[in-house]
Amino acid sequence: MTRAFPSTALAADIAAGLARVETLFESQLSSRFPAVNDLCRHVEGYRGKMLRPTLVIVCGLAFTDEGEPLKAEHDIIAATVEMIHMATLVHDDVLDEAAMRRRGETVNSLRGNETAVMLGDYLISNAFHLCSRAGDPALNLRLGEVTNTLCEGELVQLSRRHDLALDANTYFEIVRRKTAVLVGAACELGARLAGASVSEAQSMRSFGEGLGVAFQIQDDLLDLLGDEATVGKSIGRDLEKGKLTLPMILHISQTTGAERHAALRAIEAKDGAALRTLLVRSGSIDAARARAIEFVLESKRGLPATRRAHAHELLLKLADGVVARDS
Ligand code: FPP
Ligand code: MG
Repeated sequence: MTRAFPSTALAADIAAGLARVETLFESQLSSRFPAVNDLCRHVEGYRGKMLRPTLVIVCGLAFTDEGEPLKAEHDIIAATVEMIHMATLVHDDVLDEAAMRRRGETVNSLRGNETAVMLGDYLISNAFHLCSRAGDPALNLRLGEVTNTLCEGELVQLSRRHDLALDANTYFEIVRRKTAVLVGAACELGARLAGASVSEAQSMRSFGEGLGVAFQIQDDLLDLLGDEATVGKSIGRDLEKGKLTLPMILHISQTTGAERHAALRAIEAKDGAALRTLLVRSGSIDAARARAIEFVLESKRGLPATRRAHAHELLLKLADGVVARDS
């Protein structure tokens, strides 16, 4: 997915907003200890599409009149959601024993699990410290709710590893919690800070959550089908760690006999090549992809009217980009 900026004043507003967010992110994480600073600079290299801060900014601009600036709180929340995201990635790479992230080495691979766990803690602590600077307890409360939910998603996922009976609804619930709630909060808070009504902010949250679920389905497809050089991170981790993802779940629930058993055997043997062949042949890969596209379409349909038409158009483009990506 590229940063799909439209060629309007909106593009300049978004670029300026993201530049402020980067500065804030870096200054929040600057430490007088090189041992800490070096690690934070390394994690800044994980920054990619900046999807979450972009959504805070675009959803803010969507409910702002042209020429009217965003609030300082927008920058704080955009940097906070990115910092929360980075904390989860650093911890996730420990859980997944992943060696590569954003074409570089993971912290756990470079410095070991102890450092990676502490760095993730440092990032989450800084995220809430930064958020507190906005001076609105409602923001801390909302994002605290998000991180609680996110951890619950991960804990449920851990409890269901190697569980061949995992059903699609439980998978969607895990994905909604571990990935989608943060994306939903980015959209909701961006809109709310710009003065959107409660119902508009709620619609923006649903929009973001749908996008988040689609994003994770696509992420799981890339983990199963992508190659490391293109995706830029360790792949095949789901199978390795016993995490059943949507195409596997669909195949198990929709096939019978030898076709089903062969897939169960391939999952147990962690045989990615055999599993891919079976899932392609049964149509389960296509079915998972179609489900991700449905989530995007549903999100787009529910997107409320905004004040700036260009922001609305850009949100629709960003939604399409979530599933049309190979990294
Ligand atoms: C991506 O999974 C993982 C997440 C979206 C959430 C991870 C969250 C935690 C580990 C909890 C940490 C919580 C706090 C508050 C620090 P993935 O492995 O499918 O994604 P990947 O392909 O990018 O590795
Ligand atoms: Mg992972």
